[in-house]
Amino acid sequence: MDKLVINGQHALSGSIPIGGSKNTALPLMAASVLGDGTMTIKNVPNLRDVTTFAHVLRVAGARVQFDPAAHTLTVDAANITYPEAPYELVCKMRASFYMLGALIGRRGHARVSLPGGCSWGPRPVDLHLRGLEAFGAEIDLEQGYVVARAPGGRLDGGSFRMEPSSVGATINLLLAAVTAQGGCRIENAAREPDVVVFGKALQKMGAKIEGLGTETIEVEGTDRLYPVEFVNASDRIELGTFMIAAAIAGAPGEPIRLTGAEPDFLGEAFMNAFRRTGAHVEVGDSYVEVAAPEEIQSVSITTDVYPGFPTDLQAQWSVLLTQAQGRGRITDTVYTDRFKHIAELKRMNAYAMVQGDTATVRGGHPLKGAQVMSTDLRASVSLVLAGLVAEGETHVLRVYHLDRGYEDLEGKLTDVGAQIHRETYDESIGETGELPQEA
Ligand code: UD1
Repeated sequence: MDKLVINGQHALSGSIPIGGSKNTALPLMAASVLGDGTMTIKNVPNLRDVTTFAHVLRVAGARVQFDPAAHTLTVDAANITYPEAPYELVCKMRASFYMLGALIGRRGHARVSLPGGCSWGPRPVDLHLRGLEAFGAEIDLEQGYVVARAPGGRLDGGSFRMEPSSVGATINLLLAAVTAQGGCRIENAAREPDVVVFGKALQKMGAKIEGLGTETIEVEGTDRLYPVEFVNASDRIELGTFMIAAAIAGAPGEPIRLTGAEPDFLGEAFMNAFRRTGAHVEVGDSYVEVAAPEEIQSVSITTDVYPGFPTDLQAQWSVLLTQAQGRGRITDTVYTDRFKHIAELKRMNAYAMVQGDTATVRGGHPLKGAQVMSTDLRASVSLVLAGLVAEGETHVLRVYHLDRGYEDLEGKLTDVGAQIHRETYDESIGETGELPQEA
């Protein structure tokens, strides 16, 4: 297995390119199933989740080619012969569940494995299923699989209000709705940029959608969609992650420039909280420049749906709070149990505690390098950030979590002056290579 080894406290300066969005690329790949021909998606990041989703598409019969250097993916969906997403792939990556909407939209029926929970707790899909039923799908659960069909081959259409607003369910429902016979209405729809950009791709493919970016989305079904060329959005979570890196580890007086960015996609709440830390921020059309403040102010945040503070940036924010003056709180209202990283940060000498849906972090306790690991993507990157500011060496184990969502993280950080490299280790015989002693 791979780990990242970080030698901390090397100040960062320079420029980092932001890649294509993972959370938009995966729905775009699902959308390609709806087009009867070859779809081209540009600015696709070279990530493990992308290659996993390519397998999911191949299982259904698509021909997929990915040029990782050019970040271009083509999907020939002329023959979607096997409308199924197997357990082996869905259990690796929950986004495979988008195949449910995509296959109903293309073939009128689908058999897709139900995803289980997730490392930070339950992640239900009831809204996906109830929404599809509201649009006319017949749904059965068989041996862990959702078997869904549109009677007569196309959904009748209908109206569904989701509570709470869900990114995943909005995407799945749109995929199924665009080829319905009648109209479909989604109330309390997700307004995240991921959904808006994905919806624009569907529009380009010929879908009739109104209300993207608002709480009510209306779809008038069409007979068929056409493959197109589409440019994926820039990754807002990667942008936010590197902004935090710049605030805590940037060289004094030397701003770090993050290029290829879409700053509006971060949402007001993150930007406002970030400015309140004292970090100097300059926002351009396609870049953000961040200079580290002399002293970071502690700013408490609460995650919420867009334009609220993204749940995908709260773990990174907790590292920023370890470097701040005073005490700050992080409340996650979207995923209330998502605090696995706090226990690892405490192993690095952070002063923090979790109570219910809230973590409290007090600054002024210098982080110290340690071996750490986490069980999910954003928690893992927060440990890398911690390693950048910690005294001594930090070993972040199980890097495969990071490879799901950050392309060439160590390369990008090395280019701005971090001391970080990848090593292989064998977990079965202990991290040092020695056999563990019997108790
Ligand atoms: C969420 C984030 C998304 C992030 C992703 C991965 C939000 C609103 N969404 O998306 O930005 O990229 O995690 O970290 O911040 N829910 C149900 N029933 C369902 C579906 C969802 O009750 O069928 C609930 C969830 O438990 C959660 C809320 O709705 O509390 C939002 O979930 P949703 O947006 O679907 O989550 P993801 O699509 O995973």
